[in-house]
Amino acid sequence: MKPRTRVTHLPDVSLPPDNRPLVAPIYQSVKFSFDDVGETRRQWAGQRAGFYYSRVSNPTLRQLELVLAELQGRDACLLTGSGVSAMSVALLALLKAGDHVIVFAELYGPTRALVQRLLGRYGVSSTMLALDDLVGIERALEATPTRLVVFESPTNPVLKVADLERITALAHARGALTLLDNTLAGLHNHGRFDVDVYVHSLTKFASGHGDVMGGAVIARRELIEGMRGDAENLGPTLDPHAAFLILRGLKTYFLRWDAQCANAQRVAEFLGGRPEVSRVRYPGLPGDPGQALAARQMEGFGAIVTFDLAAGLEAGTRFAEALELFSITASLGSTESLVVAPAMQPPRGLTTEQAAWTGIGPGTVRLSLGIEDTDDLIADLRQALERSGG
Ligand SMILES: Cc1ncc(COP(=O)(O)O)c(C=O)c1O
Repeated sequence: MKPRTRVTHLPDVSLPPDNRPLVAPIYQSVKFSFDDVGETRRQWAGQRAGFYYSRVSNPTLRQLELVLAELQGRDACLLTGSGVSAMSVALLALLKAGDHVIVFAELYGPTRALVQRLLGRYGVSSTMLALDDLVGIERALEATPTRLVVFESPTNPVLKVADLERITALAHARGALTLLDNTLAGLHNHGRFDVDVYVHSLTKFASGHGDVMGGAVIARRELIEGMRGDAENLGPTLDPHAAFLILRGLKTYFLRWDAQCANAQRVAEFLGGRPEVSRVRYPGLPGDPGQALAARQMEGFGAIVTFDLAAGLEAGTRFAEALELFSITASLGSTESLVVAPAMQPPRGLTTEQAAWTGIGPGTVRLSLGIEDTDDLIADLRQALERSGG
């Protein structure tokens, strides 16, 4: 073999079967080959194990799919390059022209936009309700044959807790499927409820380190297999290196989750005792409207604490800018603490009535707690409240 050939056909290095790496290698390969055309075709037809093209499947992605499905208590998972693309694949694969969807004002903005604007253009209709309006959900299901109910719990940013048992029962009684964006609840929560499809942004708690994006759709095999063909054609694939980073992050998922929940609880309690704060939302706080439901439904109340500064919007900007340990930025669930100021989260694309359902007010601040020392975080919050005249 001449040098020009050798550098493109590298020497083979394979491990003996009794010699395994403790961390699975990244299969950073787009293509996988068989020596035989017949075997290649058998793999395409699903008649034998193996991989062929990474837009369709890849061993590093497969490992992540298996662990995420198991954490969520389902038997199949489909990975995508972001949380939003996981939602778009699920919606596009489950819906067709003429279908009706129930959505909620509290949903993540791009999810609402996908259903109402994008799918609206393709003949999908929707009804928007408030998440706690169970009577409204029942009525909407009675009034219009519905394919899908799309919801979140806890919601972002106001942390309303959905009644999973009631919502899934109401939907199923009328033949509708349920799709839960479970990002804020974490990867291990809500699996025992009768939810048909879970969507996660893996950008958040799964990787945990704020250095990789990803998304997952998790459901029973029959639903995921139904989505795979559409996903292959749409092409929102997760890169194997991203999957590897998420797998690495997952090893500390529960340690991070526990530390973040403990920080959030202490911070929520601290904020609840401050005169500058008119309201704190955290499902772990006694008296929070979501407390009883969350205590029944969730293991750990999550890493997000949302509160209202009585002095409103501008005080919120001064407060966020006065913080030293919390970065002003998007996203959540990372090892570092983050803040979103009121001026950064006005409800968009909603009527005045729908905006009121979201619970977002002029002084609403969202914190995402990291894994820093709790006393340092509280000292930072205290000095920022005092300096900003919160
Ligand atoms: C509840 C929720 N769902 C989905 C997403 C979208 O995830 P990604 O940014 O990975 O597309 C986010 C991002 O903030 C989110 O908060």
